Amino acid sequence: MYGKESITTKQGTLTMSTLHSAPTSQQNKGFKNTNQYYGTITKTFHWLTALLIIAVIATGVSAHDMSISDPVSLEWKVRLYSIHKTIGLTIFCTALLRILWALSQPKPAMIGDAPKSQTFLAEVVHYALYISLVLVPLTGWMTHAATEGFAPIKWPFGQDLPFIPNDPELAEHLATAHKFFERVMVASLLLHIAGAVKHHVIDKDATLRRMWFGKTNLSDALFSGHARGAAPALAALVIFAAVGTAAALQPVGKGSIDAPALEEVSSDWRVLEGEIEITVVQFGTEVSGSFADWTAAISFDPAADGDIKGSAEVTVSVGSLTLGSVTGEALAPDMLAATDFPTALVAGDILSADEGYVLEGTITIREQAVPLSLPFNLDINDDIATAKGGVALQRLDFGVGETTDSDTVGLEVGVSINLTATNAEDAG
Ligand code: HEM
Ligand code: HEM
Repeated sequence: MYGKESITTKQGTLTMSTLHSAPTSQQNKGFKNTNQYYGTITKTFHWLTALLIIAVIATGVSAHDMSISDPVSLEWKVRLYSIHKTIGLTIFCTALLRILWALSQPKPAMIGDAPKSQTFLAEVVHYALYISLVLVPLTGWMTHAATEGFAPIKWPFGQDLPFIPNDPELAEHLATAHKFFERVMVASLLLHIAGAVKHHVIDKDATLRRMWFGKTNLSDALFSGHARGAAPALAALVIFAAVGTAAALQPVGKGSIDAPALEEVSSDWRVLEGEIEITVVQFGTEVSGSFADWTAAISFDPAADGDIKGSAEVTVSVGSLTLGSVTGEALAPDMLAATDFPTALVAGDILSADEGYVLEGTITIREQAVPLSLPFNLDINDDIATAKGGVALQRLDFGVGETTDSDTVGLEVGVSINLTATNAEDAG
């Protein structure tokens, strides 16, 4: 129902006399909304949010695009991400207050006599914006909490969230959700702005003016009562549920380079499970990550004569690395150069040492072979062997990050292995 005769709003029916009796001097001066006007508090929330959204998107996109090939741009990347997260959390808190406020207020009737489909779309977009104001920063915050991030939030709290574990795979899912929800937000925003411009330029009505501060005269305005109620809110929720499901179904754990999977190798000892982890220090904070794809050919006989008890050859798909929030940067050409050098190789003999064993051989990264001595402990129970060990490498030995200074990314990179293998013949 719409037109000048009578309009229906959430708060009831406005009659023609209500609308036409509004004197020209009646202005939206109050703090609160009425059935026709937005109050100052709603307007302040609205335009403050608009400013913050521009800033958060600008910082998010430029931080994302900034390379770490030189220390200056890396420092900027970190600074921009910190600003991004801090503004984002401000938006989150503002949004919660804003939504509480909106719930306590009348919703001014829509201006104009647009077809029902248009007013419905406008309301779906309003709800999508409200939902995204919560979900986009929340998923960003959760991504940050699940990652050993390198760009802190500039708040004294909130680096961790109690219900979010530090988990690279979870972080990837959350980062995808952050990105997907952010795209819905931007699409809604473009429709929203297009609608506002249409009202102002084509319909020449007071829709935009009434959201702005100062005097607005609505005595001649035509109101539409369309699209109030739960349907547009439900439609917006369905959109977010669908996009959230799509985000959750995205594959993760592949690193940011689409590296082909390594072929299986034959091995006397078959690895059942294990992890090859690396740890770097960035801006004084440790960031750890691991490779999802690697193969190991291991021969080993603890009872063999002499010092040499076996040998191992481990091939690692460099592009399968996940390293906190800086996977892409770590795989970039000036760092591990995963596209040009897709595999790293560790090969050597297994020798018995005073304590446990040591793998003596070479490690090859970026086609630079460097001698390696990797001590490890071994527990063997019923043909199941668990090996744990670690070594520190110097990244410059492999030409990794030659232009990146040691304050930005530490020169030493810790490598640790933790794997369980079984004697393949026994395992069948
Ligand atoms: C240049 C940017 C923007 C323009 C021109 C604009 C314009 C408007 C206008 C004219 C209205 C009133 C609609 C009506 O009377 O029916 C409105 C309402 C609204 N705007 Fe915006 N807006 C902008 C940015 C934003 C941003 C960034 C957000 C949030 C992310 C946002 C969220 C909303 C919401 C949720 C409402 C509905 C308020 C309610 O009735 O509860 N807007 N906007
Ligand atoms: C309304 C608020 C927010 C908006 C609109 C927003 C938007 C964005 C955008 C556009 C990107 C770049 C994504 C890409 O191009 O791939 C991004 C990335 C990111 N944002 Fe936000 N963001 C918001 C809030 C937050 C908050 C509160 C945090 C954390 C406290 C956060 C953390 C991140 C992180 C960690 C990334 C990088 C994700 C990745 O690893 O790809 N964001 N955000």
